Amino acid sequence: MSRTIIISNRLPTKVQRAADGLHFQPSEGGLATGLGSIYRADGNVWVGWPGLFVEDPAEQAQVTARLADDSMAPVFLTEAEIRDYYEGFSNGTLWPTFHYFSEFATYVPAHWEAYRAVNEKFCQAVLALAGPEDTIWVHDYQLLLLPELLRRARPNATIGFFLHIPFPSYELVRVLPWGPELLRGMLGADLIGFHTFGYMHHFLSAVAHLLGLPTQNGQVETPERTILVDAFPMGIDYERYAQAAVSEAAQGYERTYREVLGEARVILSIDRLDYTKGIAQRLHALEGLLVAHPEWVGQVSLLMVVVPSRDQVAQYAALKEEIDELVGRINAQYRTITWNPINYFYRSFPFEELVAFYHLADVALVTPVRDGMNLVAKEFIASKGDRPGVLILSDRAGAAQELSDALLINPTHTDQLVGALHQALTMPADEQCQRLRHLQELVRQYDVFAWTKLFMDRLAYSKIKQQTLATD
Ligand code: G6P
Repeated sequence: MSRTIIISNRLPTKVQRAADGLHFQPSEGGLATGLGSIYRADGNVWVGWPGLFVEDPAEQAQVTARLADDSMAPVFLTEAEIRDYYEGFSNGTLWPTFHYFSEFATYVPAHWEAYRAVNEKFCQAVLALAGPEDTIWVHDYQLLLLPELLRRARPNATIGFFLHIPFPSYELVRVLPWGPELLRGMLGADLIGFHTFGYMHHFLSAVAHLLGLPTQNGQVETPERTILVDAFPMGIDYERYAQAAVSEAAQGYERTYREVLGEARVILSIDRLDYTKGIAQRLHALEGLLVAHPEWVGQVSLLMVVVPSRDQVAQYAALKEEIDELVGRINAQYRTITWNPINYFYRSFPFEELVAFYHLADVALVTPVRDGMNLVAKEFIASKGDRPGVLILSDRAGAAQELSDALLINPTHTDQLVGALHQALTMPADEQCQRLRHLQELVRQYDVFAWTKLFMDRLAYSKIKQQTLATD
């Protein structure tokens, strides 16, 4: 029987250590939901890192057994691997480079060696589970070398690869000392997917320039194989958000928040802590709004959730300080006894509370300076139901390619952001609803289940096509 194996750096269950032992918390992330029906089906499995350092063999066995009950297989990483492969090469080299922050990228040979070694470790973990004809779907930038490693060991396997972050212009890839190796790693797949056609074209151009391989009609030709390359914009579980927003629990939270926030209009900002998200620019824009349009003083509040992330990487710690300082300064300058311009939370929130934020917000301010897709924009749209609301969206998020009824802005253009905020806050309710209904139709139709099916169908097709070519 042919099986499907999903691989990502992080498993869709978070394992945490507490005083009373290990805690297992299923992730509610989009990928976990979208692929749930696949990896939980008979015999299939999701391979990845459980998100914490587990050294003791007895504890490792406990984690393995517990995860196996939910169709997962852990890859344990040592502290040195987490430092050099995860914080080092993945998040200190690839993440900044692929998001056009080359100035943050480090090129440390020991990090590259760890990256290769951990991709090899993932390969061994997959090979222990996969048969020769299995379908394997590898996810994201932490595992760019894995498709090729698997291909060498399982020449007939069906291998898909999806990149969840932007693929940058080839000019940035050529700056990387290991660019050609990374591209060759990806080309081990039969199908390579990106969120947008722009990323796909950048990839094809990098392959042509750096590897000298022919690329035509969304295909790469190597001497041995043809690799399909395509765009698959990822969606969310629309109904889950739409239903949760009108649930008892979410409405209860919403009533409480409303009481505290009073009459003020609410601008919502939700992100992982990351310099790619444009969080500081957003704070400058809020301040700009209060200066340019003083009528909003006391009338509008920014509800800003920043979810802690990668705090061992230097730039993340520095960004946290910058945000703390900015929020403190703006609040100290503008607040009154009964009103705060910024309600800032540095933590994550349970699903129902997040949905209550979305449902309550008048404006969602989604302004990353670079973002592969950005699902927060889609979650806001799905959660609004028949309420009015305005999405302000960066034109440098992958989502902007689809969500043209949002107010699209250049996130580094503060005046444009200020103008969009004022426009959103003064937009007639029927225009808000009209734009939202268009956006909702789109996000509902191209949900995460449609995304998964499209990718898997195309992957199966890529294999059939190759087999036909081989027998011609
Ligand atoms: C982005 C990446 C994912 C990653 C997530 C959280 O969405 O594309 O691969 O899992 O950020 O980052 P973390 O480093 O905590 O896994």
